[in-house]
Amino acid sequence: MKANPGGQIDLQEVVGRDEIINQIWETLEQQSIRMNAERRIGKTTIIRKLCAEPRDGWMPVFQDLEKFHSTLEFAVGVYREVEQLLSTRQRIARRARDLLKSIGGTEVGGVFKLPSFSGEAPWKEILSNSVQDLVQECVKRSDRPLFLWDEVPFMLANIKDREGEVVAMEVLDSLRGLRQTLGDSGLRMIITGSIGIHHVINSLKRQGYANSPLNDTFPVEVPPLGIDPARELAARLIEGENIRAKSPEESADAIARVSDRFPFYIHHIVKALKLSGLEGSPDSVEQVVSQQMLDANDPWELNHYRERIPVYYGKEFEQTVLGILDSIAVRPEAISLNDLLVELKGTGTLDDREQLIDLLKLIEQDHYLSRNADGHYQFKFPLLQRWWKLSRGL
Ligand SMILES: Nc1ncnc2c1ncn2[C@@H]1O[C@H](COP(=O)(O)OP(=O)(O)OP(=O)(O)O)[C@@H](O)[C@H]1O
Ligand SMILES: [Mg+2]
Repeated sequence: MKANPGGQIDLQEVVGRDEIINQIWETLEQQSIRMNAERRIGKTTIIRKLCAEPRDGWMPVFQDLEKFHSTLEFAVGVYREVEQLLSTRQRIARRARDLLKSIGGTEVGGVFKLPSFSGEAPWKEILSNSVQDLVQECVKRSDRPLFLWDEVPFMLANIKDREGEVVAMEVLDSLRGLRQTLGDSGLRMIITGSIGIHHVINSLKRQGYANSPLNDTFPVEVPPLGIDPARELAARLIEGENIRAKSPEESADAIARVSDRFPFYIHHIVKALKLSGLEGSPDSVEQVVSQQMLDANDPWELNHYRERIPVYYGKEFEQTVLGILDSIAVRPEAISLNDLLVELKGTGTLDDREQLIDLLKLIEQDHYLSRNADGHYQFKFPLLQRWWKLSRGL
C-alpha cells in the first residue's frame, strides 16, 4: 500500500473500520445518524465505504455538499443524483420531473435548465419530490434509501451567507420533516462534515432559531483507529513504500503510537520517512514527526486547530480560549476546573466560573480536550498537545 495522506484511498486500503461500519448499519435500522468527529479522522472514508459496500436491502446515495452554495443548487443536486440512480434501473424521478416542467424547466439532453426566479425558488418542493421519488422506487423494490451527505455544515454556512440564517434553518427543518414523514417508509440519512455542525446550529440559535433539528438523529462519534489496525496500516505502508527497517513491527508500533492512531498522520509519517531516505527506526519516526510539526508549510494541516478558534468561538472569546488551552497544554497532568479557574484569574484571562464551564464544554465538543474519570481536563490527543506547545512557544 502506498502512502496517500489526504487523497481518496482505494476501498481495499481502508483499515480498521469494520466495527464502526457494522454499528452504523445496525443503528440505521432504527434511526438516521449525525456523524461527529475530529477533522481528518476518516469520516469521508467511512461513508464512501458505506456507499460502495451497502448491506443487502439498502440503496445508498453519496453526495459531497461542499459544492452547493444555495438551496436551489442543493435541491437540484439531489434531484440529479436521484434521477441518475433511477435511470440505472430504467426508471425516472417522475414527481420531481413533473414539478420541474411545471415551473418552466426546459430539458436538454436529460438535464433541466431552470428559469430564474424573482421570488423564492421552489427548492423545498424540488428537494422533497426528489426524495419521495427515490423512496417510492425503493418501497417497490423493498429497498431502503440512504442519503450519505458529507460537508453538510459547510453547505449550511454557505447558504447562511448567501440566503440568510432563516433559509439555512429552513434547510435543517426540511430535512427533519423528510425524515419524519418518510422515516416509516425506510428513509435514512447520515449527515457529517469537517466543521462541527453544532457551531452552525448555535449560530442559528443566536438568531432566534428554537428548534433542535437533529435531535431525531443518533450521534455517532468516529474514534481514531484501534491500536492493532493502526499498527497494521503503518506496517502495510512501510512495506508498500519499501522503507528499510531492522524491525518493521517496532517501527509500525512507534508510528501507531506517535500518530495518536489517526490514519491521516500515519500516512504522513510514512510518506515523510520515504522522502527523508531515513531508515524506518523508531528514532527516525520521532525525527520526522518533529520535523513535520515544525515545518512552516504545515503538511499535517495542524494550523487549522488555531485558525478556527475565532471562527468557532467568536473574536471576543479568542484570547480566553487560547489562554485556557495554553494553561492545559503545559501541564503533564489533567487539571481540575477549580485549579484552572485560579490560574486563569491569576493571568487575568477569565474570572467567571460559569463562563469557564460553558467554554470548556464547547472546547471539549470540538475535540481539543477530554475529561478523565475525576472530571479533570486534559488534551484529548497528545499529538495535538505537543504541536500546540511547539506552535505557541510554550
Ligand atoms: N480507515 C482508513 N484506513 C486507511 N487510511 C485512512 C482511513 N481513514 C482515513 N485514511 C487516511 O486519512 C485521510 C483522511 O481521511 P478522510 O478524508 O476520510 O477524513 P475526514 O474525517 O473526512 O477529513 P475532513 O475532516 O477533512 O473531512 C485519507 O485521505 C487517508 O489517507
Ligand atoms: Mg471529510
